[in-house]
Formats: sequence, C-alpha cells, structure tokens
Amino acid sequence: MSNKAITNKIKKICCIGAGYVGGPTMAVIAAHCSDIEVSVVDINEEKIKGWNNSNLDLLPVFEPGLKEVISRCRNKNLFFTTNIPNSIEEADMVFISVNTPTKEKGLGAGYASDLKWVESSAREVAKYAEGHTIVVEKSTVPVRTSELIKEILKSSSKGNKGSRSKSFAVLSSPEFLAEGTAIDDLENPDRVLIGGDDIDAIEILSKIYQRWIPRSKILLTNVWSSELTKLTANAFLAQRVTSINSIAALCEPTGAHVTEVAEAIGFDSRIGRKFLSPSPGFGGSCFQKDLLNLVYLSKYYGLDEVADYWEQVIKLNNWQKKRISTIIVEKLFGTVSLKKILILGFAFKSNTNDTRESSAILISKELIENGAKLFIHDPQVNPHQIQMELGTKPINGDNYQEGSWSYSEDLYASALDADAIVILTEWEIYKDLDWLRLFQIMRRPSWVFDTRSIVKKEQVQSIGFHFWALGRGIEE
Ligand code: NAD
Ligand code: UGA
Repeated sequence: MSNKAITNKIKKICCIGAGYVGGPTMAVIAAHCSDIEVSVVDINEEKIKGWNNSNLDLLPVFEPGLKEVISRCRNKNLFFTTNIPNSIEEADMVFISVNTPTKEKGLGAGYASDLKWVESSAREVAKYAEGHTIVVEKSTVPVRTSELIKEILKSSSKGNKGSRSKSFAVLSSPEFLAEGTAIDDLENPDRVLIGGDDIDAIEILSKIYQRWIPRSKILLTNVWSSELTKLTANAFLAQRVTSINSIAALCEPTGAHVTEVAEAIGFDSRIGRKFLSPSPGFGGSCFQKDLLNLVYLSKYYGLDEVADYWEQVIKLNNWQKKRISTIIVEKLFGTVSLKKILILGFAFKSNTNDTRESSAILISKELIENGAKLFIHDPQVNPHQIQMELGTKPINGDNYQEGSWSYSEDLYASALDADAIVILTEWEIYKDLDWLRLFQIMRRPSWVFDTRSIVKKEQVQSIGFHFWALGRGIEE
C-alpha cells in the first residue's frame, strides 16, 4: 500500500503546544500532507494570535524559511487555535509538544524535568479524545514518561458523550531540530526516531514521515530507547561544545589558537568537524535542562559517578560564561563602572529570536552588577524579551546610570563613546561591521571582545582597537 493509502486513516492531526517545536514541525507536516488537516493548539492566547498574525514577520517564532511554509498552508490545512477540546476530539493523531523545563520546586527541584504540562496534555487527550487516537510524545521527557501518559489515558475508556469508546496507542518520537535551522532540519533530518510497540501506530506515523523522508532514515526502537536517545543526543552535543570551550581556555595562556586546534582535530573522521565552534558557553532551552535530567535519572538509579560526569559539563559551561565577564572587567582596567559597553547579540545562537539560557543573560548581568552601562543589540530579540531575561527595565536616553542597560536600535549610534564592543551571538551582520566607523566614534582605548571567532584580528588591530578573542592565545 502507498504511504498515502496507509495514512488515509489519519484525516486530522492535533498538536498540543504551539512553541518552537510545535509550530515549525506541524507546518512542515502540513506542507507535505495536504490531505491531512493539522491543528496546533495552545493555552497561550497571545501565542496563537501571533501564529495567526497576517504580518508573517510577527510570528512568535523566527526561523529562516518558516514564514514561507506558514503562508503556503495556514488556513488551508494548517490551523492555530485555542479550541483544545474540539481539536483533540476530531484528531486521529495527537502530538504532545509542550514545554518540559527543569523543576523549580518540590521533589527533584533543580534537576528533574517538570512534567506538569505533559501530564495536563495527557489529561486533556484523555478527556476529549473520541474513538482510536495515536498519541505521539514529541516533547523531550525523562525515560519512562510514556508510562505516565499511558496510565492517564487508560483511566478514560468512555467517549466524551459516552457514545464512542476510546482507545489509544502511545508512541515516542522525539524532535531533533535545532533552532535557526529548524525548517531545513525538518525537511531533511539526519534521522527520525519512533519508539513504541504498537505496530499499526508505528506504521502510520512512519508513513507520514515517509511522504518526504527516506525510509532508511526512520529508525524504530523500543519506547525507552527512544526517550533516552533524545537526552543522550543533547548530552553528547553539549559535552562537545564544553570540550572545545575548555580547550579554548587552555589555548589562551599557551599560545595555541582554538580555531586551528578545532580544525585540525576535526580532520580526524572519528572526531568530525561539526559542533566544534568555541563560544561563550552553550545556551538554549534544552542542553542544560536535558543534562540536568540525565544527572537526575543517573542519581535516581544509583549511578552517582555517571551523574557526576555529566554534571561536570554544566559546571564548566557556567564557568565559561563567568570567565568571559571577568576577562572583560579585567581588561578594562579592573572596573567597568559607568563604562559604556555595546553588547552585540542576545539570542543564544544566530537565526533565532530565542533567548532561553542564552550566555548573554549571565554575562550582561555580571557586567551590570559591576556597574557598566550596557547597550544591547540583537537583530531579532526585542527589548521586552531582554527585560524579562535580565529582570530590570532599560534606562533610555543618554542617562548614563551605573549598572543599567538600554536597548540599541542602531548599533552604530550606540557605539558613540563606548569603551568596548562584546560579540556574544554570531549573527551574519556582525561578521561584516564597519570597524573604522566604529573606532572613530568610540572612546579610547577602544576594545573588541569576540567570543564567537567572527572578527578578523588583523583588521581591527590595524585600525587601533585592543582585541581579545576567545581561545586566541598569546599575541606577539
Ligand atoms: P515552548 O515553550 O516554545 O512551547 C511549548 C508550548 O506548550 C507553550 O506555548 C505552552 O503554552 C504550551 N502548553 C503547555 N501546556 C499546554 C497544555 N496543557 N495545552 C496546550 N498548550 C500547552 O517549548 P518548545 O521549545 O517548543 O519545546 C517543546 C518540547 O520540545 C520540550 O520538551 C523541548 O525540550 C523539546 N524540544 C525543543 C527543541 C527546541 O529547539 N526548542 C528542539 C527539540 C525538542
Ligand atoms: C539543540 C540540538 O542541536 C538539537 O538537535 C535539539 O533538538 C535541540 O537542542 C533541543 O532538544 O532543543 P539548539 O539548542 O536549538 O539545538 O541549538 P544548537 O545549534 O545545538 O546550539 C546550542 C548552543 O550551543 C548554542 O548556544 C550554540 O551557540 C552553542 N554551540 C553550538 C556552540 O557553542 N558551539 C558549537 O559548535 C555549536
């Protein structure tokens, strides 16, 4: 039977959670399955309004290529709505794509994932589903979470109106997209993972993916392996970033250049070239929380040495952020009090408007704490978002208040009289700055701190800047 014939059983899909994963993932599914109606639901009305905004530049998620997919499918076979009961009731397949952050209080606080949103989603499915429903766990969860979902679903066997009986199949299909490349990652993933034991459900989900992804890239495992694979993949990626950042620190006093070391080790095909860019520390909503979750699970199963091993990755990452803010203060004669510093980039990486766990948060807070006057620029992050992350309001105008920040609409205007420019996110526009123009308007001595290896040292030094780059070693 063709992929389409098998997936003909699926007329409607509902995705609970219209976030960085739910929105783009469902848009791509809708784009490849014009015969399936896809509803993305959320409890957050503002977010749903954002997804329905006629101005595609104001979608809640910024991703290259996203607005094009949305404009093709929205209100044809892709709908964003807060009508959760209806969407679940009509769906043959429900994806759970809600947030699973680290627990802030209670048992496991600071380590375990908070599963309250997964649980409430499962309860909504249990309450509103009709007939047979395939439930797909797309959120990143601790191993054995699907048991919790099954347990909740099992407790409801009668239909909403008591007329049709309910049945469920539960699968795990974690998402591996990275922000900034989400659409490419969804269109052409390295692999798709499906974990579960219901052969029909697996076949149906697999055939949906096969509409655009080769069968050879679709891996089938048991549900626990699938859940653990997601945590493991993120832990390995985070560990790799931390490994190269630790070497960057060693390069600085020894005279080595971290970019040269990274390139040279990357030539070894066993090591590979990807994910070896030094940085001010990894950010993003997932690496830290998934590592913490792995630490928690390891401890829970009595594997303290395993827990310590992975926890060290987080410790080093935090040390890296702190190390950078300390270096900036030290280079600026040991004090940044009332010094004007232009921060370039607040998102946790380029091509996203996401600031969750961005290294820029801690580094900015440290500099503010030291009395600096920051001007923060980012092409996609708005001042409201920065205010939320820093927990303080911006001070606008030329009011140079000690330990404060302002939003920079125009980085060149903000550089006037600045003592330093600090690059924290590798946005394309920061790779080609008019350094001469910047130097002419900054206060002397003028510093450039490059934590993303995107500035040409010779160029800025020949203009007259003092220059520090992460992992660049001793300069003759
Ligand atoms: P997000 O915070 O951007 O979006 C989650 C959405 O779920 C929110 O809008 C929230 O309002 C909504 N929600 C929560 N409970 C709900 C409920 N009961 N009913 C309806 N809506 C509800 O989160 P995200 O970044 O999209 O991540 C979602 C999951 O995917 C997490 O488990 C995360 O670890 C995982 N993941 C994220 C990424 C990423 O790049 N962000 C990549 C892969 C996997
Ligand atoms: C990461 C994974 O790459 C995805 O596969 C996964 O699905 C996702 O987490 C998730 O589960 O949420 P994401 O956090 O969006 O994706 O972005 P990455 O490209 O992995 O970058 C994470 C952080 O590491 C960023 O702060 C980035 O600047 C940093 N990084 C990345 C480096 O410092 N150096 C590198 O070489 C690569």
